[in-house]
Amino acid sequence: MTTFSEQDREKLPKHVAIIMDGNGRWARSRGKPRIFGHRNGVKNVRSVVNAAREFNVPFVTLYAFSTENQHRPEDEKSGLMRLLEEFLKRELASMLKDGIRLRAIGDLSGLPKFAQKVVEESIEKTKHNKNWNLTLALNYGSRQEVLNGIHAYANKILKSGKMPENLDWPTFANHLETKDIPDPDLIIRTSGEFRLSNFLLLQAAYAEIFVSPLHWPDFNREAFIEALKNYIQRERRFGQTSDQISHSAQPLISNNQL
Ligand code: FPP
Repeated sequence: MTTFSEQDREKLPKHVAIIMDGNGRWARSRGKPRIFGHRNGVKNVRSVVNAAREFNVPFVTLYAFSTENQHRPEDEKSGLMRLLEEFLKRELASMLKDGIRLRAIGDLSGLPKFAQKVVEESIEKTKHNKNWNLTLALNYGSRQEVLNGIHAYANKILKSGKMPENLDWPTFANHLETKDIPDPDLIIRTSGEFRLSNFLLLQAAYAEIFVSPLHWPDFNREAFIEALKNYIQRERRFGQTSDQISHSAQPLISNNQL
């Protein structure tokens, strides 16, 4: 049974975002079709969310389907969407019981209707939950999100007829799809690749990145705990010096917009 000291518990991340990579390679190494890897990847989601709850990490975001994944073969895409549907239908009761609020970022209109429907219904049914927060990035791409944010902001300015003196980050961040959730403190990527792949590019400005060699279906509770242990060893300086951090209770820049 892993425990963290009280001091370490305070250092644990509030928001862990995960790039669940390697399902295809995991399946291939077993001589199975790619969808077998995705199916086993979905099974893993519950154990990682449970571990996040156990260690009081209130926000978890999963990169489940990127805008670039739209270019995958049709059968793989539809298989993924069916897995998403099964997952949400199966998990709804426990999300309600455990007070988990589901959110989605990304363009849901680009998903098949059945997937869009189950995502929207799950978001609606869990919207009053306050204990934990699971966000699925679905048909999500950070560049598109930023372009949409610029467009929305520019529209507001045009309507107001007045150009503000300047634009600060909190104001712009309010036009991103992540406006209701804090920036990620820790980004985990499985399968050994050192890339962000168009995931939360601006929100990750000060995130710590942990790359696990494990493929996503093998990334279990123990691997998640290892990532947390690694994270609490890091000194987060937010652009300041070590001395400044050790002498001030609060960093000058916070990673948390809320
Ligand atoms: C990357 O592995 C994984 C994906 C593109 C999809 C991740 C999706 C799931 C685990 C299932 C849906 C999620 C939920 C939350 C229901 P890859 O296929 O790129 O692997 P490879 O790089 O080895 O080919």
